[in-house]
Amino acid sequence: MSPLRIWLVGFGVVGRWLARVLDAQAGQLAARYGREPTVVAIGNARDGFIYHPDGLDLASILAAAVAGRPITEQPGVRVWPSAIDGLRATEADLLAEVTQSPPADGEPGLTHMREALQRKIPVVTSNKWPVALHGAELAALARRQQVAFRAESTVMSGTPVLSTLTEGLAGTVPAALRGVLNATANYILSQMADGTSYEDALAKAQRAGLAEPDPTADVEGHDTVAKVMVLSALVFGRQLRREQVTCQGITSIASQQALEAASAGGRLRHIATLAFSGPGGTGTVTARVQPEVVPASDLLARVDGATNALIFQASPVEEITIIGPGAGPQIAGQGVLSDIIAVARRQARNS
Ligand SMILES: NC(=O)c1ccc[n+]([C@@H]2O[C@H](COP(=O)([O-])OP(=O)(O)OC[C@H]3O[C@@H](n4cnc5c(N)ncnc54)[C@H](OP(=O)(O)O)[C@@H]3O)[C@@H](O)[C@H]2O)c1
Repeated sequence: MSPLRIWLVGFGVVGRWLARVLDAQAGQLAARYGREPTVVAIGNARDGFIYHPDGLDLASILAAAVAGRPITEQPGVRVWPSAIDGLRATEADLLAEVTQSPPADGEPGLTHMREALQRKIPVVTSNKWPVALHGAELAALARRQQVAFRAESTVMSGTPVLSTLTEGLAGTVPAALRGVLNATANYILSQMADGTSYEDALAKAQRAGLAEPDPTADVEGHDTVAKVMVLSALVFGRQLRREQVTCQGITSIASQQALEAASAGGRLRHIATLAFSGPGGTGTVTARVQPEVVPASDLLARVDGATNALIFQASPVEEITIIGPGAGPQIAGQGVLSDIIAVARRQARNS
């Protein structure tokens, strides 16, 4: 059985979770899916890129990372100062791109993904902004090169949204979607339904590990904007620019508003909407992220706390709803793992 040689670029929370799972389950995954996942390279910002053609000692690298030591201190590995230098100089069967690449340009993730796809190497990623900003281009490049490009974790983490919409519902004509796509914002709004202030709800979310110390991306809606752009690019085939998605955050909501909505039987929710005037992503686009009062009869009113939901409209299925956890490194890692397995299966079939 030939190995599935993986470049793992990004060794933060998600990258380390993946390394642990791949280390612990390599044999099981090989037996079940026909290729043995073998991490041949790891890259991060601080130390650069390490590579061993026969596979890295993941347990030793994880121990070094936990102890705060550089990942480059491994016997027998080749080292490059940056991930892109290492990618250009080495070979693999798959890029797992799990860096954090900011909204300004989606870099360095975008360059890493283009490098792999241009060389006919499949890409799986949890890195939202490169896909939000250039998802249609990356998907088209992957199609031309006849390799996979998968980004399950970029929307609702490991809850299978993208694979469901693009594979499970292949052949349908997408029309629109609505959803609650940010766990932090939904947790805060759920807390506020009983009159808790925004500040207290945010503090509770931070104590629960659901909100970052700097929660801006979540509470101002930028994270949800990225997800709307990813869905537009990968499900509808339409690349949006960031300014095409109107966005209003939840920071100025008074507890009274949330309480009034709840007293009337409804709920305040941070709603993402994506709709096209023509079928299959054609015509004029409506894309927005904003707080809305939804009536009790709306399914999104019942999605509480860190749970997320997406209601998808397409012909001929009419309406499909996906509900599940929307955050957490393990869930994000699980989404990337499912993408790796999808690639392994495809390669096992083709070999
Ligand atoms: N955590 C979640 O719940 C979650 C959920 C869904 C999606 N995601 C997405 O998944 C990705 C990874 O998340 P995370 O929580 O693991 O983030 P993280 O802990 O901040 O880790 C990011 C990793 O990217 C590396 N990196 C940054 N710039 C780099 C560069 N130029 N070259 C190589 N590596 C670089 C960092 O290196 P250093 O270690 O040296 O800093 C770090 O290892 C992010 O894009 C995030 O938005 C995360």
